[in-house]
Amino acid sequence: LSRRFISRDATNGSSPIAFAFDIDGVLIRGKQGLPAAKRALSMLDRANKLGLKIPYILLTNGGGVSEKAKAEDLTSIIGHEISPSRVILAHTVLKNAAAKYADQPVLVLGGKNDDVRKVAESYGFKHVYTSLDILAWNPATWPFYELNEKERQTAKIVDFSQIPLRAAFVFHDPRHWSLDIQILCDIILSGGIVGGPYTHTRGTNPIELVFCNPDLLWKSNFPQTRLGQGAFRDAFQAVFKSLTGTTYPYVQLGKPSTATYDYAKQVLLQQLQGKRADDPESTPVVYMVGDNPESDIAGANRAGWKSVLVRTGVYDPANGPPAHTPTREVEDVEDAVRWAIEDGL
Ligand code: G3P
Ligand code: MG
Repeated sequence: LSRRFISRDATNGSSPIAFAFDIDGVLIRGKQGLPAAKRALSMLDRANKLGLKIPYILLTNGGGVSEKAKAEDLTSIIGHEISPSRVILAHTVLKNAAAKYADQPVLVLGGKNDDVRKVAESYGFKHVYTSLDILAWNPATWPFYELNEKERQTAKIVDFSQIPLRAAFVFHDPRHWSLDIQILCDIILSGGIVGGPYTHTRGTNPIELVFCNPDLLWKSNFPQTRLGQGAFRDAFQAVFKSLTGTTYPYVQLGKPSTATYDYAKQVLLQQLQGKRADDPESTPVVYMVGDNPESDIAGANRAGWKSVLVRTGVYDPANGPPAHTPTREVEDVEDAVRWAIEDGL
């Protein structure tokens, strides 16, 4: 590996190739690391210890915690050191949205307890509320769920009848779909006040609605794929359409969105110490290794990256060809790295 790289332009400190690794179904399944993951990442880190500077990132539609917490979790599950600077979660791109809403009350959905509030505040959002805060303020908001002790302890109780929520960000997969759908409908139809009169008028969309992960399905450690945040989005839109006759406009971030892949390109280039995205000479060929044709392969192909589809996650060849054609199909992430190194030189 080192001889092949040094014989190419690695001597000027920049590598001809870079990697973006999806997480669920490629590196891990639930809380279980895939054996090929440790071998693949060890191979890259050994090359980088030789000074070969192969940039790589972990690019997931997962999240719900800080990049630091996710890196620590992955380090433990995979058994290989993962730096937080390499981790891009579904909501990491929202760091760029915080300034617009810094002084406005916003609703954040998904994850456990107030984990996502803490993440949003770390991005610069200053007035962040969760659906559990609203339920703690008025249990009649949704009479079919009672907060558990931890949720009660971490709730921030304010008078929501006085707080017009200006935007709703679905950071991660909601745990209480019915409560969250009820509250989204309440604030959209009332213009932001929970419990306020439904004055929503056609054509005005007072609440910006942002979803961070479009995945209908994802691969955990269950034999069949699991419903993801895209399923929650579709459930909300179905209920909203039954209520109003139309769906509600929203912003979709996460893979395969251009916003997420553009953000990922910038992070990869930062690893090349100041190389510019518009300098074709310095930008490496990026290999995206993923398990979901809809998010990983579609997004990589659109980004002009090479896409490598593994058979350890959502994609199952027994169900027919993938909806988006990868540059290469391989068994697992180790095969993907080996093929990319051969291909990239
Ligand atoms: O919630 C995470 C899931 O939607 C997929 O994650 O890592 O396969 O993009 P990932
Ligand atoms: Mg995946």
